[in-house]
Amino acid sequence: MKIKRVGVVGCGLMGSGIAEVCARAGYSVLVREVDDQFLERGLSRIKKSLDKGVARGKLSPSERDAAQSRISGTTELGDFSDADLVVEAIVENLEQKKETFAMLDRVTPAHAILASNTSSLSVTDMAAATERPDQVLGIHFFNPVPVMPLIEMVRTFLTSDATYQTARAFGEGLGKQVVVTKDRPGFIVNALLVPYILDAVRMVEAGVATKEDIDAAVKLGLNHPMGPLTLLDFVGLDTTLFIADAMYEELKDPRYAAPPLLRRMVVAGYMGRKSGRGFYDYR
Ligand code: CAA
Ligand code: NAD
Repeated sequence: MKIKRVGVVGCGLMGSGIAEVCARAGYSVLVREVDDQFLERGLSRIKKSLDKGVARGKLSPSERDAAQSRISGTTELGDFSDADLVVEAIVENLEQKKETFAMLDRVTPAHAILASNTSSLSVTDMAAATERPDQVLGIHFFNPVPVMPLIEMVRTFLTSDATYQTARAFGEGLGKQVVVTKDRPGFIVNALLVPYILDAVRMVEAGVATKEDIDAAVKLGLNHPMGPLTLLDFVGLDTTLFIADAMYEELKDPRYAAPPLLRRMVVAGYMGRKSGRGFYDYR
C-alpha cells in the first residue's frame, strides 16, 4: 500500500512534531485538534520548529515552505475520509483513545492504517475498539520528534504482517531508526525511563539534594543531555503522571507508583515547560 495522505489526531507537543516530520518527508498531512484555539497553537508550534530547522541549516527556506504548504488543520475527524495512515497523539487516556479509534474506524477508508503514539497504554485495547484490528499498531515517536531518531513500533497479537511492513517502511522513510516491541506497558524506553524519572522526584521529596544538583549530577556524571527533572519538565508533568498511573494500574509494580509531589504539582498546574512552570520556571 502506498501512503500519500497522513492524518494526525492531536497537535500538542507530539502531534505537531509528527505532523512536521511527515510533511518534511513529502506526505500531505492533516492535523485535527479539539478547537480552533488549540489548532492555531499547534500549527504555530510547527511553523516555529520549521523556522528553527532552517536557522540550524537542517532544511532550506524553500523546503520549509514546501513542508508548510503540505500541512493543513481541521477540528473535524470526518475530514480524515481520504487518509492512508492516521497517527493518534491525543492525551494519554485509554478511554479517550479507544473512542478516537472507534471514530477513526468509521470515517477513514477501509485500507487505512490506524496508529497510536501512546507512551504506555494498551494498543490491543485500541485495536479492539475498531473493526480492523489487524490494521492497528503503535508508532511511538520521541520528543522532540524532528530531532530524536527513534521509533518504537508496537505490534499487538492482531497486527498483520502487511500493516507492520508498511508502517515500518513509513517510519524508516521519515529517517527514523525502528525498533520493535511487544504491546507491554511502557514498551522498551518508558519501562526504563519512568522509574528513573520518578526516583528523581522521590529524591527531591526526600531532600537528598536540590533539583539543580540532581540534574547537574546526571548531566555531568552520566553524560545525559538533560538531568531527570529538566527532562520531566520537557516531557510534561501531566503526561508523565498519566503514563506512570497507566503503568502502575496494569503492573502494580511500586517502581511505577507516582510520588505524591508529582501528583500535587500537576493538580496545581505545574505541567512543565509547556505551561511555563514545572520543577523550573520558564516564564
Ligand atoms: N528541526 C530540525 N533539527 C533541529 C530542530 C528542528 N526544529 N531543533 C533542533 N534541531 C537539531 C539541531 O540543529 C542540532 O543538530 P546538530 O547536533 O546536528 O547540530 C540538534 O537538533 C540539537 O539541537 P539544539 O542544539 O537546539 O539543542 P540541544 O543540543 O540543547 O538539545 C535536545 C536539545 C535534543 C532536546 C537534548 O537536550 C536532548 O536530547 N534531551 C533529551 C530528550 C529526550 O530524552 N527525549 C525523550 C523523552 S521521552 C519520550 O519522548 C517518550 C515518551 O513517551 C515520554
Ligand atoms: P499534549 O498535552 O502536548 O497534547 C495533546 C493534545 O491532544 C492537546 O493539544 C489536546 O487538545 C489534544 N486532544 C485531546 N483530545 C483530542 C481529540 N479527541 N482530538 C484531537 N486532539 C485532541 O500531549 P503530548 O505530550 O503531545 O502527548 C500526546 C501523546 O503522545 C500521549 O499519548 C503521550 O503519552 C505521547 N507521547 C508523549 C511524549 C512526550 O514527551 N510528551 C513522548 C512520546 C509520546
